[in-house]
Amino acid sequence: MYKICFVCLGNICRSPMAEFICKEMVRKKKKSHEFYIVSRGTSYEEEGNDVYPSAKRKLREEGIPFDERSATRLEKEDYEQYDYFLCMEERNVSNAIRIFEGDPKNKVITLLDRDIADPWYTGDFDITYQELQEGIQLFLSQFD
Ligand code: 4NP
Repeated sequence: MYKICFVCLGNICRSPMAEFICKEMVRKKKKSHEFYIVSRGTSYEEEGNDVYPSAKRKLREEGIPFDERSATRLEKEDYEQYDYFLCMEERNVSNAIRIFEGDPKNKVITLLDRDIADPWYTGDFDITYQELQEGIQLFLSQFD
């Protein structure tokens, strides 16, 4: 079982979108039993809040199922629980490593080789969706 944690700042836009896109992709590959997928934020800013409405709208538009959820901050104890921490931007990588007080097993990486723009600020959930899809497809292809 591969354990994957997507990481963004607030855990209400990019990382939960990534979580649900990834769950749907593995479901389509009939590999749901091989992956355990969650998402977390590096800040307490949105703690307890559900996925941002525009993010839900975009997921609905793309036919990606999602559950009600509660934004949760990444904690030091999470480090041993997951194999990969797939971050949306470099800032998430440095924040995650600060929370974990290191990354001895090199688990913390960016999903793409560039920062994924924060739709909370840009308002563009279409581009975010495309970038997430691209990154997750690439990531999952190593397990094909
Ligand atoms: P996310 O977007 O990191 O993609 O969930 C954000 C949502 C909320 C905030 C920042 C980023 N915020 O500061 O409240």
